[in-house]
Amino acid sequence: MVDLFPIVRPLLHRLNPETAHDVTLRALKMRLGPRVGASDDPILAIDLWGRHFPNPIGLAAGFDKNAEVFGPMLRLGFGFVEVGSVTPQPQAGNPKPRLMRWHQREALINRIGFSGHGLDAVERRLASRRADGIVGANIGKNKDSQSAEQDYADGVRRLAPLADYLVINVSSPNTPGLRDLQGAAPLAAILAAAQAARDEASAETPILLKIAPDLTDKDVADIVGVALGSGADGLIVANTTVARPDDLPGHLAGEAGGLSGPPLMEASTRLLADVARHAAKRLPLVGVGGVASGADAYAKVKAGASLVQLYTALAYRGPRLVTEIKRDLAECVKRDGFACLADAVGSGL
Ligand SMILES: Cc1cc2nc3c(=O)[nH]c(=O)nc-3n(C[C@H](O)[C@H](O)[C@H](O)COP(=O)(O)O)c2cc1C
Repeated sequence: MVDLFPIVRPLLHRLNPETAHDVTLRALKMRLGPRVGASDDPILAIDLWGRHFPNPIGLAAGFDKNAEVFGPMLRLGFGFVEVGSVTPQPQAGNPKPRLMRWHQREALINRIGFSGHGLDAVERRLASRRADGIVGANIGKNKDSQSAEQDYADGVRRLAPLADYLVINVSSPNTPGLRDLQGAAPLAAILAAAQAARDEASAETPILLKIAPDLTDKDVADIVGVALGSGADGLIVANTTVARPDDLPGHLAGEAGGLSGPPLMEASTRLLADVARHAAKRLPLVGVGGVASGADAYAKVKAGASLVQLYTALAYRGPRLVTEIKRDLAECVKRDGFACLADAVGSGL
């Protein structure tokens, strides 16, 4: 694989982070991204929801909000790619600047707030995709929507026939009131509406729920209870955090938004383990938050994740990271004597 990232990284990082992301998307659309030829170590393969994942490392939501580059991202070696969050109507999101780098910790703070092209565009792009890998669709709600239930149901109805899995995102910190939808009553109503919409679409696409890292023990118990009771197919743990570590530099102290990257690793993995204990193997879990190495990915697996996602580390380390994480994760699984990845899931609980 020819990796130009070490050469272009200093240039990209001289741009403001959102412009750097736009430039990256444009290059990927022009097929300038690298392609990984090597096939995955079979020890990393895992079957979930009737789908075969060649490896458990996925691209988290937010990188390809508009379903424009899932093909090139799959060709980097990701086992799956999640597009979105997509809202029913196009919307601009919050005023810029709304994405900040914390260089020393290779972290980001974002308050983008569901900017995107809307369901029509994403539906059209997913409809024209070739069967070249697993693509999930993450669904959000419009900022000025009158009914969250309606927004999520619209997304499910339109995308269930086109995506390999769907995600109900009630955990982004940048849409006012969104995270309140994680309460037991609104959550049950949204999941019921989502399932009714899936039935209307005559689809059996799995519906996952993505939660925030900033939850109390009671919140976790309630959410897992509602997810199990309402027949959700899995949980993604977790979104960005509104918490701020003590070593946050002063110039970022007043920046609102969600923090992602390594400072999120420990708390999101602890939450994942809590969720796994409550779910007791009744729900597949996806671990996300701060993954930047094979050891991090393995920590998520041991804490109960069948699949692992990342976003922020890719912006700092470039596409080679995906290959490195897969190689090191396979070594960890073998070192500990597991015959396959699935046997390692939850082994640290
Ligand atoms: C710039 C940016 C935009 C994001 N947008 C979304 C989004 O639209 N929907 C969503 O569910 N998560 C979104 N996320 C959260 C990521 O999917 C992920 O949960 C979080 O960043 C933690 O993973 P990481 O530390 O590997 O980045 C976004 C993250 C970043 C950094």
